[in-house]
Amino acid sequence: MARATTRYTCSACGEVSPKWEGRCPACEAWGTVEEDRPALSQRSGRSGPAKARQSVALADVSADEAERIPTGIGELDRVLGGGIVPGSLVLLGGEPGIGKSTLMTMALAAIAQERSALLVTGEESAAQVRLRAERIGGAGKIRVVAETDLGVVVATIAQEKPAVCVVDSVQTLWTVDLASAPGSVSQVREAAGELLRVAKQHGVAIVLVGHVTKDGAVAGPKVLEHLVDAVLLFEGERGGELRVLRAAKNRFGATSELGVFAMTGRGLEAVEDPSSLLGRDELGATGSVVACTMEGSRPLLLEVQALVSPSELPQPRRLANGIDRNRLAMLLAVLSRHAQLGLGSADVFVNVVGGVRVDDPAVDLAVALAVTSASRGVPTGPLVAIGELGLTGRLRPVAQVERRLKEAQRLGIEQAVVPPGAPPVPGIIVRSAGSIADALALALGATA
Ligand code: TYD
Ligand code: MG
Repeated sequence: MARATTRYTCSACGEVSPKWEGRCPACEAWGTVEEDRPALSQRSGRSGPAKARQSVALADVSADEAERIPTGIGELDRVLGGGIVPGSLVLLGGEPGIGKSTLMTMALAAIAQERSALLVTGEESAAQVRLRAERIGGAGKIRVVAETDLGVVVATIAQEKPAVCVVDSVQTLWTVDLASAPGSVSQVREAAGELLRVAKQHGVAIVLVGHVTKDGAVAGPKVLEHLVDAVLLFEGERGGELRVLRAAKNRFGATSELGVFAMTGRGLEAVEDPSSLLGRDELGATGSVVACTMEGSRPLLLEVQALVSPSELPQPRRLANGIDRNRLAMLLAVLSRHAQLGLGSADVFVNVVGGVRVDDPAVDLAVALAVTSASRGVPTGPLVAIGELGLTGRLRPVAQVERRLKEAQRLGIEQAVVPPGAPPVPGIIVRSAGSIADALALALGATA
């Protein structure tokens, strides 16, 4: 029989170690590894031998495409793949203050019009929840219970069997079976496991709200990712109004779709045309280049900004906001090797405006141009740069270049630098470059 032993789990990345470590061996975060004890309920063994079950032919399994529950929020439905699947467990992660509670209150209010919707609040009192709901258009028929005891929450859900239940937040739940504090890895995992069971058993769709901080200091949704059916991440700059919702995992749909919202005085409003939010005044300024990513089925224009300044540190700073740090390091190496742009003694800062995170390699060229423009102090002028950079300095074609060019043209950008092979698009001057050196010459002139 398997013996339940104590393990140690990193709250930031979920790495499991047999012994305690001051620094997580996987993600290298300090002080995030904590004791992770199985709950008492799981430690008790089975009495007697297990009974075998009869398997069935897969073809005989009834699999009616379950009817999805629309959330009343088009952008949320889009990211979920067409609404919430009954009986599913969804994790909504994001930094504190980003708008998770607001989004869920709005969704519950719409769902409650036709179905039963329950809000379990562990962070705010029922009165606070009501005040917020009224500010953003009414509490409607949402039912609410302020509770943090996991056993009570599970029993309430099992009794009321709502169509949709939101637990805000999973970090506030605790069970007496575990000695550790609420929000610790063991508590969070136990809560999610129990809620998963009740969700499947009663066909209740449950949304777990979970806080993540940038440095991963709070016991995180990371340890729940494998357990839930879908992971949605809510991102954006806290000061700014743009919010982006994306799926990091989705068992019932694609993960490429993006939902875009603006936080207003009356809650979150869908942004139908996110590209149009692109600030116009700084376009083409030194260190600023427009990129176009494909987010699912939609092209999205974004501004990439770079700042290069002499460094006083032995190891100059590399700050990447909105793009992967390692990708930036690679692009700087390519620039150094293939464009003779030595930045070894300069701090380099790159920011994707609006708090959007981009994984599309097609922004490589825009980042490289923005950094070079900032380094040389020469503007590129208002152009859109599309293309992936290879380690050899070659510019690689990207998918759907025509759609991206049309989007840029639609928003009034008149010039583009792209890899070879792009079709002509009326209204925009498209110039192709085979390498990073060619692209720099086209966009910034030949000055090395
Ligand atoms: P909230 O949904 O409480 O964030 P989270 O649950 O992710 O911690 O919302 C946080 C911020 O949103 C809060 O600082 C105030 C702002 N906000 C608005 O600007 N307009 C609104 O209508 C609401 C409800 C909140
Ligand atoms: Mg909240």
